[in-house]
Amino acid sequence: MRKIMIFDTTLRDGEQAPGATLTPQQKIVIARQLAKQGVDVIEPGFPISSPGDFAAVEQISREITGVEICGFARAVKGDIDAAVKATRDAERRRLHMFLSSSSIHLDFQLRKSREQAIAMAREMVAYGKQFVDRIEFSPMDATRTGDEFLFEMIEAVIAEGATIINIPDTVGYALPDEYGAMFTRVMQNVRGSDRVEFSAHCHNDLGLAVANSLAAIKAGVSQVEVTVNGVGERAGNCSMEELVMALETRGNAMGAVTGIRTEEIFATSQMVSRAMSFPIAFNKPVVGRNAFQHEAGIHQDGLLKNRNTYEIMDPERLGVPRSMIILGKHSGRHAIRHRVSELGVELTDEQMEDFYASFKSLADSQKVVHDHQLMQLIGDAVNRVME
Ligand code: KIV
Ligand code: ZN
Repeated sequence: MRKIMIFDTTLRDGEQAPGATLTPQQKIVIARQLAKQGVDVIEPGFPISSPGDFAAVEQISREITGVEICGFARAVKGDIDAAVKATRDAERRRLHMFLSSSSIHLDFQLRKSREQAIAMAREMVAYGKQFVDRIEFSPMDATRTGDEFLFEMIEAVIAEGATIINIPDTVGYALPDEYGAMFTRVMQNVRGSDRVEFSAHCHNDLGLAVANSLAAIKAGVSQVEVTVNGVGERAGNCSMEELVMALETRGNAMGAVTGIRTEEIFATSQMVSRAMSFPIAFNKPVVGRNAFQHEAGIHQDGLLKNRNTYEIMDPERLGVPRSMIILGKHSGRHAIRHRVSELGVELTDEQMEDFYASFKSLADSQKVVHDHQLMQLIGDAVNRVME
């Protein structure tokens, strides 16, 4: 099994989600939890972007051990200097620099020719390399860049000493087959690619960030960039918990594992959701409220006989409170009888039938029937049908 490095960018790319701003103190608390969860790399912010972000990256670099800390920078000296300075006390560090590679970005945003972009990339990687050995380079908007220029840029930065090549799907445009094949072509055609590590960085505009990241793993990348709860620009980034659990659950099919302590997943998710004031969708895979709750009678019946009938992950391994059977209008007799006996009540068959009828009419008028309501219905049924 190959070990896939988990590069967490919740505190940088994740925080770029509109409205997700975190204070330096919140970032430090989250970084501690990410380290506890076993991520391999933390990108704690964008040091040049604000004094608060600089302070957060600096403090996290000083405090967090056992995890590589990554300073983020555009391919310009001021950004690189700030990132190098903010991470100087880290036990292990890397410098992550990016420069656009697609024509649309070069022509309309940077207003640079391709030759100028290659020269900048070369010069800035060489500049950063004086201070930090591990240099990650990202050609931004790579998936909308033609092969020829993408290869040229990657080859140029490897020649200057880049050690990790991250190929981002910046606008979430790629399809899984395309994204995997792009890595294969880069690995086969770019000189020096056997000397570097490859990384995937996917956005979720088409809901494909996790699928694309898995395709990149299949193609041979050794690192995936993720955020907790999938937060990030627009529709977000590849979700850490979904990617990790895909590998945990289907690791054999993928031939890859991560070093994440899955039992911390739920706690991390809750912490980030609260800190950013971003509620988690009820149906969010892995950490959503409904991810391990069951309402349909047939499902509840199967689950009571064997949990694997309708659950492919054990919620307790994710630190999720035990999966719950929700009683509502779709619930069947078996699940209801089970809950009644959990409440310590034994009903005769006749009482059960009476209770079941009143349960169903109440359940028709509300989403979930709660335990205190069950007790009321049970009492009424017992009064009506005396033994
Ligand atoms: O999406 C992106 O391109 C990024 C960087 C890696 C620049 O977040
Ligand atoms: Zn991104």
